[in-house]
Amino acid sequence: MPAYAVIGGQWGDEGKGKIIDYLAADASIVARYSGGNNAGHTVINDLGEFKFHLIPSGVCWPQTINVIGNGVVVDPDGFIEEIRDIESKGIDPSTIVISDRAHIVMPYHVRLDQLEEERRGKDAIGTTGRGIGPAYLDKVARSGIRIGELLDMEDLALRLPDIIERKNEVLTKIYGADPIDIEDIYARVREWAPELSSFIRPVEDLVAAAIENGENVILEGAQGALLDIDHGTYPYVTSSNPTVGGALTGLGLGPRAFGGVAGVFKAYCTRVGAGPFPTELTGELGERIRNIAGEFGATTGRPRRVGWFDGVAGRYSARVNGFDSIIITRLDILDNVDSVNVCVAYELDGERIEQFPIDSVLLERCKPIYETLEGWSGTTAGITDADDLPAGARRYVEFLESLLGVEAAIISTGPRREETITLKPVIS
Ligand code: IMP
Repeated sequence: MPAYAVIGGQWGDEGKGKIIDYLAADASIVARYSGGNNAGHTVINDLGEFKFHLIPSGVCWPQTINVIGNGVVVDPDGFIEEIRDIESKGIDPSTIVISDRAHIVMPYHVRLDQLEEERRGKDAIGTTGRGIGPAYLDKVARSGIRIGELLDMEDLALRLPDIIERKNEVLTKIYGADPIDIEDIYARVREWAPELSSFIRPVEDLVAAAIENGENVILEGAQGALLDIDHGTYPYVTSSNPTVGGALTGLGLGPRAFGGVAGVFKAYCTRVGAGPFPTELTGELGERIRNIAGEFGATTGRPRRVGWFDGVAGRYSARVNGFDSIIITRLDILDNVDSVNVCVAYELDGERIEQFPIDSVLLERCKPIYETLEGWSGTTAGITDADDLPAGARRYVEFLESLLGVEAAIISTGPRREETITLKPVIS
């Protein structure tokens, strides 16, 4: 059955947007299943350069339907802004549908995210400040607002006073902040309803019918496995499940729908925000890679922390997701580096370990054990045929494959759609 998940194998920012735009040539649906506009997917193709936060990365292909699933939380203002942006670049937004069950990120969620980060002080998670955690919190607490409720404003108007009253208790009594004005919230909701209503509908049958027809459906991961609320480096994680399970619950799919699960890995590692990062390069080399690679957040502009490829974390990620292929991105960034380190194990309290410790306190104490590979001279940038890769670059990819125990399907050698080497099909 032909649903293919494309999932971040690290801490997000692996280049999933570019890969999904490339693969979507053969898809009839591209569906986001988790996260919100904390994501930033960069896509560069003949139509221009895009940074998608909520809109699925298949939108540049006219034959695709682009689904925002029930597992996503939607900031209506952010969504409307993105729609205007793609329209200004000549892309038809009518291919986008939002599940009526996706929850809304309300303005008070954004405020609460920021207040809670301030309250955490030195223990701040370094969230994107987009209200993602508080929106999921309300979903689980059963006090969230689903986007389908915009289609029935009468019922929503009945629910809102109680919701706002409780939010104001939290804002004023816990955070000592100003209360929100219910009239302002009403006004926002009234503005959103006509702008969004044409996008909102149930999506489960749409996706299921495509799969039953044998059409290809790409399940677009956001963030990465190590930011997963259950399987990531808790509490320094996001509030959803970027791992493969999230694709099932976030779209209403059964496991037999899957044709494959591909893990996207950068040729090195990055992380934005706080939390353990065993292979982090804090010195001059890290700074150099950050600048060469332009490692600054697509959503917040924050400098990303940079480090060597972490094979222990990568193996863990491959296991919790069941990757049957990996996709290596940004290989060109390591061009002309004399030698490249890859973390193959950790040292924890004097002992060598090969399992990823899921406890962040333990992970903080882990020291990377590296294997050093010779670098390669010459450039991999823009190469489209594996035979043209420098021998050292090929050896590097093979090393990562054997470390993770998964074959590589694609190597990305630049940000543009065509700067791609296909080794084996991800979609078959
Ligand atoms: P939140 O998702 O905004 O709550 O942020 C929680 C953590 O996830 C922070 O460390 C963020 O930097 C990180 N995060 C959220 N979205 C992304 C992303 O798309 N790429 C990389 N890190 C992210």
